[in-house]
Amino acid sequence: MNKRILALVGCALLTSLTASALEQPDNKKKDDKSEKHAPTIKEVYQKHFLIGTAGDLPGNYSREELDLVKANFNIVTPENCMKPGPIHPREDAWRFERADALVKWCTDNHIAIHGHTLVWHSQTNDWFFRDGEKAAVTQRLKEHITTLVGRYKGKIQGWDVVNEAINDGGNARTAKTENLRNSPWLKTLGPDFIPLAFKFAHEADPKAKLYYNDYNIEAGAKHESSLVLLKRLIKNGVPIHGVGIQGHWSTSHVPYEAIDRAISDYAALGLKVSITELDVTIRGASGGQFGRGRGQGTPPSAQDLKAQADAYARLFAIFIKHKDVVERVTFWGLNDRRTWRVGQHPLLFDANNQRKPAYGAIVEALQHPRPGSGAPR
Ligand code: G3I
Repeated sequence: MNKRILALVGCALLTSLTASALEQPDNKKKDDKSEKHAPTIKEVYQKHFLIGTAGDLPGNYSREELDLVKANFNIVTPENCMKPGPIHPREDAWRFERADALVKWCTDNHIAIHGHTLVWHSQTNDWFFRDGEKAAVTQRLKEHITTLVGRYKGKIQGWDVVNEAINDGGNARTAKTENLRNSPWLKTLGPDFIPLAFKFAHEADPKAKLYYNDYNIEAGAKHESSLVLLKRLIKNGVPIHGVGIQGHWSTSHVPYEAIDRAISDYAALGLKVSITELDVTIRGASGGQFGRGRGQGTPPSAQDLKAQADAYARLFAIFIKHKDVVERVTFWGLNDRRTWRVGQHPLLFDANNQRKPAYGAIVEALQHPRPGSGAPR
């Protein structure tokens, strides 16, 4: 072979190699397309409302858990690290480390944040109420809110400003009143502590969405009391944007009709609604009172998982129906290990991060709704 022929052969070889090298990404692209994952829950619901999870991220979460959060949720609520107790242990001491880490991780991963919680009867240190003098306690409330909301201004899209201020239970008489919990806040500042907290939060970040958050407010006397309270706030021009129905329910009882009606009631006041702490235990406890309801850890049967999936599907059918009012649905925890109700299997992922039947049921609730699956009006 002379030099010319050699050069021609070399050139042809190079061309075919280059062509196959160029072809490879195309083929790869095709494979990627065919293997493209089914849309995750946040993608399925992206035109309806935000889908959230609660946790003190990234903390000691595994890589697998953090990936699960990134794939499935577009908003995070700090489960504990921004509560007054852990973040502001003494009047002159703040512990911002975990909260800062959460804000950084969420921001880096383009995940929104809903702050929880500024004023609560629980996980709040006694120093707030020392001496019980009204002006001093008001000033401490103001400094707490101004510092915390101000630090994350523009980075945290909204706050649970006041959490669980209404008493449990109630009756026909209390239903006509706000029936406020006899907390240290009420004892020192009277019912004004609620409007004051909203005012301070609004001053610290005028763009933040400010929520009143509570459990069991969807039904009965507590629901009526919530309406009395919210009407007072609205009448007095308090900067409140929405109501958080926590949503700690159980497969043995979910008040579907009440939830449906409650969302309409709040919307009629001109407020938005979020489901802020959703979990549906398998025949376990419901309600938000801490200390109740750790389960035995018995594995759920197929029948249990189906009942839970049906409950979640029915709930989401209601949320979908109210999509113009519902801003966000947040699950209280990530998986059946990272939940305050360990042993009652309340969430969408099992303890090994595998999707449970409830996950598919929630996706189906939007993609292939069952006729008549929404709660009756
Ligand atoms: O971080 C400390 C740790 O340092 C210490 O060693 C350990 C010893 O008990 O406690 C750890 O703190 C615990 C914290 O969770 C973090 O795990 C607290 O004791 C424990 O009381 C706390 O429980 C939280 C509970 O609120 C009480 O504040 C739950 O995780 C949290 O899911 C739960 O969330 C509440 C919402 O904020 C409001 N609505 C109801 C909901 C359920 O109760």
